[in-house]
This record gives sequence, structure tokens and C-alpha cells, in this order.
Amino acid sequence: MTIPTALADRFELIAVPRSRGVPSFADDVARGLRSEPKRLPCKYFYDEIGSALFDAITRLPEYYLTAAETEILSEWGWQIVRVLDAPVDFLELGSGSAIKTRLLIGEALRVQTGLCYSPIDISTEALRTSSFALVESFPALNVRAYAGDYFDVLESHAVRFERKMLAMLMGSNVGNYEPAEARELLRLIGSALRPGDGLLLGADLKKDRATLERAYDDPTGVTAAFNRNVLARINRELGADFDLRNFDHVVRYDDVRGSVDSFLQARAAADVRVSAFDLRVHVAAGERIHTESSYKFTGDEIVRLGVSAGFRPASAWHDRGRRFGLHLMVRE
Ligand code: AVI
Repeated sequence: MTIPTALADRFELIAVPRSRGVPSFADDVARGLRSEPKRLPCKYFYDEIGSALFDAITRLPEYYLTAAETEILSEWGWQIVRVLDAPVDFLELGSGSAIKTRLLIGEALRVQTGLCYSPIDISTEALRTSSFALVESFPALNVRAYAGDYFDVLESHAVRFERKMLAMLMGSNVGNYEPAEARELLRLIGSALRPGDGLLLGADLKKDRATLERAYDDPTGVTAAFNRNVLARINRELGADFDLRNFDHVVRYDDVRGSVDSFLQARAAADVRVSAFDLRVHVAAGERIHTESSYKFTGDEIVRLGVSAGFRPASAWHDRGRRFGLHLMVRE
């Protein structure tokens, strides 16, 4: 997408390359398909098709997370932007379509003049589309977008800001990390911030199994398509020959770990070839490839996670159904 010149001076896109030592898509796929049990990292869901499918998921009635978080932002956004002393700038990890962030940008611009919004997202196209829409809607907004993996962008020290910062990790994105990785990510966010800066952390709350499993296995099959798209992406980009119809989308809530786990389960045995690295993999009938974990939290667990990464809790908000929580923590 090309940005009209009238808006281009308020939009900057910085592509942060993969740092040396960080595995590529091909490395991760090769390792994941060779491992026992097989697994594929969920960050590879988000190519152009995957991002569009995720966008559709956020509008499904069964996937209540987005509606619940939007409800909190619509009702409490005015309060959220007032917890830190204005003026603030925003840094958002995993901005996607940035529809929810729009609510906070609008509220911030009521109490301060001008705002710099720095989204970080793996999808360059999602960044361009959402940033363009934002600068078009808010004449006092500047966007400096970073395309890359969160860890690469934060470790590169490319993120620059002058004012107080409100960092955001919303949409329960924190839940897609294993607990130790989530702590490491929060520590890394903290190291990009200064004492007194804030982190707005969105987390899906633990609840009954049926609601959780339905949110990740909707009857329209959008989430199943989103899950299978990772195999389609491996076919497209790495020359593999996965037969997508041989894989069922399987979702289980593990109430001990507190995560909804997604898998692709083979109906029949298959020998798959990945031509990019001349790999042949055997998938047995009934074998599952783990594709995602979505951790759920109690309020206390989120607070403990923030504290363990150097933040102190300041405020928390919930939707009326208490399905989802937004926690504002301050960097010590
Ligand atoms: C992006 N992330 C927080 C979503 C989640 O809830 O784990 C991704 C998703 N996977 C299936 N549906 C949504």
C-alpha cells in the first residue's frame, strides 16, 4: 500500500532485521518438525493470509477476548490515559489492526497536544494499513512503526522516545509465551522503559473449559483455517507438500498449565517433503503437531508476572462479565 504524500511526513516505517543467532522461519520449521512431539511456533501464523484470518477471529462471537477488551477501553480509556502524568507517547507490541488502540489514542489526544505512537508488529502490511488509517484520522498523531519480532526490535535499541512512555501488550498476546519467556519479554520491555513509564498488559482470565475451548474452536471454522494456514504457509514458502485436508484442528484446555493448546492432528499417516531443506517427515495417523498455547491467568498471576519483571501494579480494569483484565503497571 502506498501512503499519500500529505500523510507520509507523519509516518515512518523502520524494518528491524532478524538479529544474528535468531532462527529463521525455515530453521524453526526444520527444528519443530524434527522434534518429538512436533511443534511449530505460533508467531508464524501471521503472514498476510494469517493476519486477515486473525482479524476475522477477533469478530467472532465465540472469541470474546476482543469484545471484552474493547468494552474496557471504551469505558475506561479516559482513566487509563490519566494514570501516568501526561504527556505520554505510546509503544505497542503486536498492534495488528490497531482498532482498539484507536480508542486510547483518541482519549490521550483529549488531554495532551500531539502523540507519537510506535507500534511493533511482525506483519509489515498490517503496520502500513493500520498506521495509514491512524494518521488519516488523527491530525495530531505521528506514527513511527517497527516491523519485526518483538525481541529483535527491543534488543536492537531502535525504539526512541522523548516523553513518558505507555507501553502496551494487549489482546492477551502475553498468553502466547511460555511463562519463562513471558517474564523475559516483560523484562525486555522494562529495559526499553524508564522508571515511572507504564505497561498496559491485557490478559484473558481463567474460566470454564467450555467457554475457553469454544473461543479457539469456533463452529464457522475460521480458527481451524487460521491454524491450518501455517501448513499452507510452509507449502508456499518452503516448498512443502502438506495435504491440509489430512489435518484436523484440535483444541484442549489444560487446566493444570492454564493454557488452551492448539494442534493439527493427522487423520492418516503421511510422508511430507519440505524441499527448501530437503527434509522428509513422517507423520503418523493421529499424531499431533502443537501449534499454539494461549495461557489464561488469574489477576494475582498477572500481578506476580509483572512484579517478577520489575513492574509495580498501579490499576486494573475488567469487562462487566469479568472475562478479561487490563492491568496498568509502572516500571520501578
Ligand atoms: C494473538 N493471540 C493472543 C491469540 C490468542 O488468543 O492466543 C491468537 C489466537 N489463536 C487462536 N485464536 C486466536
